[in-house]
Amino acid sequence: MKLPHKLHKKLIAREANKTLRTLKSSEDLIDFSSNDYLGFSKNGLLSEKASQILQEYGIHSQGATGSRLLSGNHALYPIAENTIARFHESETALIFNSGYDANIGFFQSVPQRGDVILYDEYIHASIRDGITMSHAKAFKFSHNHLSSLEKLLSKQKREMSEGQGGKEIYVVTESVFSMDGDSPDLLGIQTLCEAYNAHLIVDEAHATGVIGTYGQGLVQMIGLEKRVFARIVTFGKAMGTHGAAIVCSKELRTYLINFARSLIYTTALPPHTIATILAAYNYLSEDQTPHSAIKELQKNIQTFREVVTSLGIQSSFIESTSAIQCMIIPGVERVKTLSRKLTQHGYNIQPILSPTVPQGQERLRFCLHSFTTEVEITQLLTTLATFINLKQHHEG
Ligand SMILES: Cc1ncc(COP(=O)(O)O)c(C=O)c1O
Repeated sequence: MKLPHKLHKKLIAREANKTLRTLKSSEDLIDFSSNDYLGFSKNGLLSEKASQILQEYGIHSQGATGSRLLSGNHALYPIAENTIARFHESETALIFNSGYDANIGFFQSVPQRGDVILYDEYIHASIRDGITMSHAKAFKFSHNHLSSLEKLLSKQKREMSEGQGGKEIYVVTESVFSMDGDSPDLLGIQTLCEAYNAHLIVDEAHATGVIGTYGQGLVQMIGLEKRVFARIVTFGKAMGTHGAAIVCSKELRTYLINFARSLIYTTALPPHTIATILAAYNYLSEDQTPHSAIKELQKNIQTFREVVTSLGIQSSFIESTSAIQCMIIPGVERVKTLSRKLTQHGYNIQPILSPTVPQGQERLRFCLHSFTTEVEITQLLTTLATFINLKQHHEG
């Protein structure tokens, strides 16, 4: 069967500008690419603990057998949700099948026609897709820019005082931006939200398990857990498994169970996945303070930043203290060549291209982990600096 012409043309366009995506495997390379920040996905102890949980509850089924609203809400769901709510100091938590599902479910169902969503211009695709499904109006503010957000908020306030009452305002940001690694001034954003009576939603995908003594995330680290409207925590990254939860009030949870279509119209996660989520949360709470894997990760982030500075290449990096460090290499060909060369030297580092990031802001995205050695970080960055200096030498 031939692909319809319009689709074929889109593929040709991607091929022409060298941004055609393909699926690759990178098992035998040194990992500077995965979101497995704490190595939990390969942690044997966690896999044993998950099996023990299934045994303890006498669960043998492979699948959930239905939506959570029908036959799929098996016994581990409430146990895991209570654990997650306690860990994140929230009234409740509601598990979704993925972060993608949580975001589309939230934004499709919560903001209503006549409401307004204000979002950071670099917000994740899953939130954008949710916004597209919503009947609310949406406006973007400049990345991590408080005054840009305040301008939008004050415009909304003006319109409300001119008679457009009954309008709810939702503001959404990420605590660690997935393609930049930087963080917003969350306290500043929350303060603005309170001043303008707006509801703040924070996507903590890349902060869950990473930021805070036990990996509780940025919201708790700065004491905002009672003041934000909802948080999205995900389990496919530092938690090493799959799924996500919206951490929120009891009433919002009930609302989502009734109206979030990505929760209602899909088969629930299998018991084994919920057991792995539970095992990961128990492990984070049980270990010493701060958690040893988080300590190792933080040490590696610091080493990475120090070596970048000592090699004099810091000006190309986006300022970040998170596990995501990005070096801007404008130009598709250039960034892909660098990534390929690093792969040939045994490192897995992915080039990030448009449309994931704006054209001209292509980048190498380095994901750091607890299990990487100092030598691996130093050798990687020294190799990278050699390639860059060689290129500059040739250009000069
Ligand atoms: C900020 C952010 N939110 C949500 C998601 C989606 O999470 P999941 O991979 O669990 O679907 C991602 C994953 O890439 C992300 O980076």
